[in-house]
Amino acid sequence: MPLTTSTGPEYARILGIGAAVPSRVVDNAEMCTFIDSSDEWIQQRTGIVERRWLGEGESLETLSLDAAAQALEHAGLTGADIDAVVVSTVSHLIQTPSLAAMLAAKLDTPGAAAFDISAACAGFCYGIAMGEALVRAGSARHVLVIGAETLSEITDLSDRSTAFLFADGAGAAIIGASDTPAIGPVVWGSDGHQADVIHMTRTWPEAVATGESSHFFMDGRPVFRWATGFIATAAQRCLDAAGLTADEIDVFVPHQANNRITDAMLRHLTLPDSVKVARSIKHYGNNSAASIPVAIVDMLASGEASSGDVVLMIGFGAGLVYAGQVVVLP
Ligand SMILES: CC(C)(COP(=O)(O)OP(=O)(O)OC[C@H]1O[C@@H](n2cnc3c(N)ncnc32)[C@H](O)[C@@H]1OP(=O)(O)O)[C@@H](O)C(=O)NCCC(=O)NCCS
Repeated sequence: MPLTTSTGPEYARILGIGAAVPSRVVDNAEMCTFIDSSDEWIQQRTGIVERRWLGEGESLETLSLDAAAQALEHAGLTGADIDAVVVSTVSHLIQTPSLAAMLAAKLDTPGAAAFDISAACAGFCYGIAMGEALVRAGSARHVLVIGAETLSEITDLSDRSTAFLFADGAGAAIIGASDTPAIGPVVWGSDGHQADVIHMTRTWPEAVATGESSHFFMDGRPVFRWATGFIATAAQRCLDAAGLTADEIDVFVPHQANNRITDAMLRHLTLPDSVKVARSIKHYGNNSAASIPVAIVDMLASGEASSGDVVLMIGFGAGLVYAGQVVVLP
């Protein structure tokens, strides 16, 4: 039986990128009003000086819309051009409908395909992989990929081993056809055997039964070991998959989890000094699926990164899951 299948362009690229962080700045001094800690300890262990939490009138949705509007403008497109919306988030606190469907309507897309993915801090790179695949398969002309989190809403402020890390933010990218290669193969995977090291503390029925909310829990040491070992080698595999060597990239953007993890990755990758390294955790904390696009937009704004730069990015987090690829900046 002859059956028509979809066909798409040979290559895809990021056409536009945007990011939004909330207005409320929570510095380490304020953090230490919630937990027994110190500015010195937090900075030394993580590199975080301050983080952004939702302020008055701000929400996961407003941050996402702001980031998406910037990405659309950067790409020279409008919502009418978007065929699919992919949102990566673990902090959309209504299980259904998806945040993606709500955003697709607010952005005036023509009823775009819309779905959320749960890939925690690896979510933006998962989204880029999906967007690239959808475009190249001919399933969508333009895909809006969003990584958005409001972890402040699920952080346990009495947990001194994690509360200082988590933050809020959103990032967005538009993916469309390209004449030249501009998104490398994704290197990704999961290790559900380590599901326990980062997880929500209660199911909905447990929360109802106990009257206690569900919080984000993390056992930092195994995550640290995994990130500085396995993930550092995965970053190298992203370069290998793209057929590039370390001296052929301009920017390295690892998930902003901890500066010490970034340092360990740098020791493994031995990047030349000319490569700019994202350190936006200092001012924005760990905003999970948003951290990579927030860092990229920050580096573009400061002039540290430029259009056309070749970027190695890698995300990792709850699942455990990871994903990374090399992309060319719009
Ligand atoms: C969370 C993290 C910063 C903790 O740093 P750490 O060096 O592993 O700290 P530990 O939990 O081993 O605790 C070390 C000491 O500091 C103490 N401590 C823990 N939290 C503290 C805080 N907020 N302030 C001061 N002291 C603290 C501990 O009690 C312990 O004291 P002890 O040595 O007297 O027992 C680190 O494990 C980490 O970054 N992990 C990875 C996080 C990550 O990548 N997440 C991304 C996933 S999305």
